[in-house]
Amino acid sequence: MLTAYDWLWATLLDETGVDGLLVGDTLGMVVQGRESTLPVTLKQIIYHAEMVVRGTKRALVVVDLPFMTFQVSPRQAVRNAGRILKETGAAAVKLESGARQASTIEALAGVDLPVMAHVGMRPQSVRKYGKMSAIQRNAQQLMQDAIAAEQAGAFAIVLELIPREIARDITAELSIPTIGIGAGPDCDGQVLVTPDMLGLTAGFNPKYLKRYADIREAAVTAARQYVEEVQQGAFPDAAHSHGQ
Ligand code: KIV
Repeated sequence: MLTAYDWLWATLLDETGVDGLLVGDTLGMVVQGRESTLPVTLKQIIYHAEMVVRGTKRALVVVDLPFMTFQVSPRQAVRNAGRILKETGAAAVKLESGARQASTIEALAGVDLPVMAHVGMRPQSVRKYGKMSAIQRNAQQLMQDAIAAEQAGAFAIVLELIPREIARDITAELSIPTIGIGAGPDCDGQVLVTPDMLGLTAGFNPKYLKRYADIREAAVTAARQYVEEVQQGAFPDAAHSHGQ
């Protein structure tokens, strides 16, 4: 699974055979340039998810429920998740969830809204726990959160930033698929934030992140060359000009 936030990238990523595209609330950071995911609104995620769905032919599109669009009550979660699926055509929603959100997952699954859970590091809790870069190591709590999500009706679960041994044990215990990010190789699947794995973002280098390309460098080099050529009058040249 990879994240996507617009039509262009969705078309490109969908071609790769990736199983799932996540319209993550990392949108707040990698697209909007904010410090956390908290400011992302329902309206914004719907706007981006609709573009992603339009650019996707085969991957499963999953959309994050942004901060405070599901925490108030299960009823609020059902209403907002319903809007997301109805207005974007996406297949499922994801919510950051510990055992305390089990009734919310149950409410969503209870009206046949496919829901993916997300345990371990939960960026929407940044105000309570601070920077959030720490690995979550409480094995008992993590197992409890994961089991609660499965029992409540989640069809899959993201495990973020937890030791690989705990992720392995959770994966063995659950019957739904686990999708890891910073959770080691024993999860059923993996997810990365696309701008991070393509080397588009700068200054974010957690141990788990493998950069598969350096698109930032390539883009800056190309744009710099264009600027220089225009300034020097080298572009457009005859090959790129229409004659009579
Ligand atoms: O918002 C997001 O992109 C995510 C991934 C980090 C899993 O939740």
